[in-house]
Amino acid sequence: MSTVPVRPSRAIDRGYRERALKVIPNGMYGHLSTRRFADDYPQFLARGEGARVWDVDGREFIDLMCTFGPILLGHAHPEVDAVAAATSARGDVLNGPGPEMVELAELLVDRVAHADWAMFAKNGTDATALAVVTARAHSGHRKVLMARRSYHGIVAWALPEQSPGITAEDHANTELFEYNDLASVEAAVARAGADDVAAIVCTPHRHDVFVDQEPVDPAFARGVRAICDRIGAALVLDDVRGGLRLDVRGSWEALGVRPDLSAWSKSLANGYPLAALLGAEPWRDAAGRITATGSFWLAGAPMAAALTTIRILEETDGIALMRASGQRLQEGLRAQAAAHGLAVSVSGPPQMPLLLFADDPEFAKSLAWSGACARHGVYLHPVHNWFLSTAHDAATIDEALARTDAAFADVRDAFGAD
Ligand SMILES: Cc1ncc(COP(=O)(O)O)c(C=O)c1O
Repeated sequence: MSTVPVRPSRAIDRGYRERALKVIPNGMYGHLSTRRFADDYPQFLARGEGARVWDVDGREFIDLMCTFGPILLGHAHPEVDAVAAATSARGDVLNGPGPEMVELAELLVDRVAHADWAMFAKNGTDATALAVVTARAHSGHRKVLMARRSYHGIVAWALPEQSPGITAEDHANTELFEYNDLASVEAAVARAGADDVAAIVCTPHRHDVFVDQEPVDPAFARGVRAICDRIGAALVLDDVRGGLRLDVRGSWEALGVRPDLSAWSKSLANGYPLAALLGAEPWRDAAGRITATGSFWLAGAPMAAALTTIRILEETDGIALMRASGQRLQEGLRAQAAAHGLAVSVSGPPQMPLLLFADDPEFAKSLAWSGACARHGVYLHPVHNWFLSTAHDAATIDEALARTDAAFADVRDAFGAD
């Protein structure tokens, strides 16, 4: 019997899309709009459980996006949800933090190797913005260096200049370098002025959209660390995407490279909104002086959820589990593509895989394949890395692979073999 499910009609999603077009820009704004994807993607989702999501029409998908990162232990995790609900029931957004803030700061300072203190916010953007302001307050320097095409959130200094609404002035204090190219970092330092660099911001590996993911060259990480030490700038590790999924200690700890500041969010609280800026001792004073506040930043439920999420991740050896499942998925996809005569590259740490097609400059094959995956019951993204959770066990991966195999067959039928 085929494991590829029969799909119900799309009428309810289509109805919401029509209504949304009247009251929501583009019917859905930003990159979570599925308008540019194949028609088989739903826009409106109804629920999630474990490694699966269902759209408003009741179509089931094995979810390989995990909400673009936040879902680390699976959707609607009963233990995490119970602790969050109990915390929220006491009246959650109060005039000050609850005791779980101290407990979570203690836990993160204990686990994350470079961290001596923690402060909390809501989104990854908050954490990267706080990092830069803290770095500036500490050094008195202005400039921020970041890799070209890296994403650090919807802060004007980090969005591409051609992004609508962003001005050249927004980038007055931003200098770009090429990821994994130390000479380009030195050139950016020279352009900025070595005595005016506040921070060099790096993601743990290159995970830009539209291109294969690229591991960090350890010599690059060590070199950036040395440059920061030489010029008195903060090394900021933007671990918003990789944090907890790759290494609880921080994603560069295995390289022996410790940042001064690190930005975390996404998977911290298994879907509850939470971000953290973690820092080393010398930056503590500056972090205490900057303007740092948000109306909802101190809600206790996400912090309680984070305490439970990290405990369960550690107790279940969740990172090893995700890595093994990711390897099974990556190897399965490579074998399937080869069997269908399709040339692909499968990149990224296994917990955060991505598949792109060779010779696919306009991403037509990626769009067709990801659309076919949606049609056959796998939710993944055509050009952005995917995310696994600890709910993605071997059986789920095998079920997903049965569905992706059908999607590869569709692509081969439409485009021919390579
Ligand atoms: C590396 C990185 N930094 C920062 C952000 C911004 O996080 P948020 O969308 O929670 O503001 C993201 C989001 O995808 C990210 O991937």
